[in-house]
Amino acid sequence: MVSLMLIALPVVVIVVTLCHSQLLAFCRRVCARVPSFLKKKVCVSSTHAYVFTESTHGQATSVLAAFDLYSKTHTSFSIGPKKGEFVDEVVKREAPLRVLELGMHCGYTSVRILRLLPTRGRLLTVELDPLTAEKGEEIILVAGFKNPQFQVLTFSSAEAISSLASLIGESCLDLVVMDHDPDQYLEDLLALQSCKVLSPHCVLLLNGTLQPGAQALLEYITSRPEYFTIGHQVQDMVEIHCHTSTHSQGEESC
Ligand SMILES: C[S@@+](CC[C@H](N)C(=O)[O-])C[C@H]1O[C@@H](n2cnc3c(N)ncnc32)[C@H](O)[C@@H]1O
Repeated sequence: MVSLMLIALPVVVIVVTLCHSQLLAFCRRVCARVPSFLKKKVCVSSTHAYVFTESTHGQATSVLAAFDLYSKTHTSFSIGPKKGEFVDEVVKREAPLRVLELGMHCGYTSVRILRLLPTRGRLLTVELDPLTAEKGEEIILVAGFKNPQFQVLTFSSAEAISSLASLIGESCLDLVVMDHDPDQYLEDLLALQSCKVLSPHCVLLLNGTLQPGAQALLEYITSRPEYFTIGHQVQDMVEIHCHTSTHSQGEESC
């Protein structure tokens, strides 16, 4: 038995060394499908309480640092510093005036975006769960931002998109961050196109790209190279550049 193991060990080591990236991708795919009840639960109230008490009010950097510290010891939905820096880079480069965030949770990404928006920039952030929306809005206020720099929409993404035209008027969205329900991603992009609310050079930031719903959106994007280009990727967050003239967006209106 021991000699059998000694013979098998080098084979295992060689296979793991040669195929480690495929094995890693396989493990990530398996983890992405683990039902949420088997994972540790994310607690909105505990995230909110920690950030509220451990940060210096009025200082966005301190609020973000408190989120990052919390995530080191607790399960968290926040995108974290690595993907956060990627968001920062996109916001600095694109200087968007109108941003739509789908999936606000406790406001980590919202705060990252708000602190880098141009003076006339505005964030619309959507959160389905009323308690989470309330807690997230409070954190954004704690970070020092005020209305009308941002507006929290306590709706589903589909409801929020259908009321966008009345909220943004003549203006268009320059940046859309999707970090809500991956199964909704494709439907929501189609609705945004349908409503003709995407600016001609809108950037889409997609989180959770290993999830099947996000894969469906990526397939849609890659099969339309005349309208979309895939940009940088950090972990499971990817940047997509839209080249959607009004005429390439859907025919129906909201
Ligand atoms: C992963 S968290 C977002 C994390 C956030 N980007 C951050 O960095 O803090 C996803 C959030 O989307 C919300 N959500 C899920 N499905 C939604 C939908 N269809 N419409 C709007 N919000 C949704 C959930 O309640 C949850 O708070």
